[in-house]
Amino acid sequence: MPCNCCQMENNTFGEDQARADIRRYRKRGPANQTRLILDAIRSLKLKDADLLDVGGGIGAIHHELLKDVAREATHVDASSAYLKEAKQEAARRGHSDRVHFIHADFTDVASELPPADVVTLDRVVCCYPDFHGLLKAAADHSERALAFTYPRETWYMRLGLRIINFFQSLGKDPFRVFLHPIHEMEALLKKEGFERVTLRRLFVWEMALYQKSGGAA
Ligand SMILES: C[S@@+](CC[C@H](N)C(=O)[O-])C[C@H]1O[C@@H](n2cnc3c(N)ncnc32)[C@H](O)[C@@H]1O
Repeated sequence: MPCNCCQMENNTFGEDQARADIRRYRKRGPANQTRLILDAIRSLKLKDADLLDVGGGIGAIHHELLKDVAREATHVDASSAYLKEAKQEAARRGHSDRVHFIHADFTDVASELPPADVVTLDRVVCCYPDFHGLLKAAADHSERALAFTYPRETWYMRLGLRIINFFQSLGKDPFRVFLHPIHEMEALLKKEGFERVTLRRLFVWEMALYQKSGGAA
């Protein structure tokens, strides 16, 4: 796999992290920025939607949306450790037959995947150097809405990510986090025919919901 993905697989999003994330999810439910995505999608009042969750981690978005919004979901992830926990949790919830799990860099397999009503990327663009390729592929697959979270462009996030990347390089870990320019991500989605309908901010994360222009959700 090109890019950061082998590093993600082996180090950053390995088994220890995946187990910690699923424990946290079972104890406290979805993380705050994930809740913003869930609320935004629920505000569209969709029923029986198909969901494509790119970089879904332990699968919190589909575990939640399969309760009321989604009929089925596809979860594409570069980390096998995360996929393993997501699969086990889907089985525990009785959702296994409604989720299709794919272990891959989404940009490598996107051309083989069908479109979905809703595409989500929760804290994924910041792990990936080529946000153009990733977001364009995500937009190409969305028939109605696309929701994603990314780090805010603030002085403290610039500093924070610089420090994280400094320690990554000290530890000889090639994985890096990215603060991609928000206006460029917006411009890309606009060019692909989407308009932003919701923007919410937390201290670290921003969440944007886009709808396909001219299409009712
Ligand atoms: C920070 S984690 C976020 C996981 C989950 N969405 C959450 O918010 O808890 C980033 C996830 O994105 C995945 N990822 C990053 N780039 C990806 C790509 N190009 N294709 C597939 N998965 C990717 C990683 O494997 C990891 O599971």
